[in-house]
Amino acid sequence: MTGYRPAPKVVPPNLYGRRDRDLTIRFYDRFIGGYVRWSMLIHRGAVKSRVDDNTTTMVILDKRVEAQDENVISLILAAPDDHELLPWHPGAHLDLRLPSGRQRQYSLCGDPADRRRYRIAVRRIPEGNGGSIEIHDELQVGSEIKVRGPHNGFGFAAPGFGSPAKHLHFVAGGIGITPILPMARLAQRLQLDWTMTYTGRSRDSLPFLDEVAEFGDRVTIRTDDEHGLPDPKELLNDVRPNTAIYTCGPVPMIGGMLDVLRNNPEVEFHYERFSAPPVVDGTAFEVELARTGETVEVPADRTVLEVVRQKRPNIAYSCQQGFCRTCIVRVLEGSVDHRDTALIDEDRDRGDMLVCVSRAAGDRLVLDL
Ligand code: FES
Repeated sequence: MTGYRPAPKVVPPNLYGRRDRDLTIRFYDRFIGGYVRWSMLIHRGAVKSRVDDNTTTMVILDKRVEAQDENVISLILAAPDDHELLPWHPGAHLDLRLPSGRQRQYSLCGDPADRRRYRIAVRRIPEGNGGSIEIHDELQVGSEIKVRGPHNGFGFAAPGFGSPAKHLHFVAGGIGITPILPMARLAQRLQLDWTMTYTGRSRDSLPFLDEVAEFGDRVTIRTDDEHGLPDPKELLNDVRPNTAIYTCGPVPMIGGMLDVLRNNPEVEFHYERFSAPPVVDGTAFEVELARTGETVEVPADRTVLEVVRQKRPNIAYSCQQGFCRTCIVRVLEGSVDHRDTALIDEDRDRGDMLVCVSRAAGDRLVLDL
């Protein structure tokens, strides 16, 4: 927790990505939505019921290129009969179940006030494992797709509306603009004191530049081709005390800022990253795959998912950060060091485990794989 000062009643994650329940969002709902509903954020029972019940079919109404290098597209989704959609807050995401069976999460980046349309954006990742390529190449206007959510693992509590901070600074790295864009719009609407640094390889690679430009000089665009690799202090914009920072981007970018802020308790730091966090305080252990009797060693610095994928390339996973539940596996023997933010006590009592982040509490686990 070094370097992080959690604000009273604030949702966002600590340095290890864990989050607490947020009550202030209810007030927030009243402010921005006109009525109170239960919090989408980390109310564990609620999350459970939504996970079980909330898969629906949506249709793609629009698909367009959002970055000049054509590596980012946006999709507009709606219900087939155009009925009203579930409400969402800035920071929320959808779980997409692709025709291939892959599951992927994408941040909502449209307008929360539009109750009949969701917008997501997808960056093509040629070196990835196919999810983004499938969306780019195979999903077309008119395609139907299974969707779960919205869920929110990146809660936004604005200064004066749930956070004691006085200033707000956003840092977006490339496609990391997607959860940040609705937050910035809300900050603008609430007339907060806010700024943003938007960074990426080049201007051509930055999605939604035209929309970001509407914020004027609140936003600093800095690109690697013009300015070199970013310095974390530069991204933080000489951050002042009593500032809340919200950032989304690549792991090294967020890690650099964490290092800068680690001993600065007067700054809130809230982040969402693109890929798996490094393993912290891991020890090595053994995993047996019960259905075949194979045994694998999980080193101290690797996850069960990484190791098991070598034997089971088709094992389902998505966020790799312990919040989407895609990688859930039943534990048949051994005790678990649960490190996720998604399972409720009933799941854990039943023997469920999210293998992307959780580990053995002892030296051996037997998994139903
Ligand atoms: S892959 Fe999302 S919880 Fe494990």
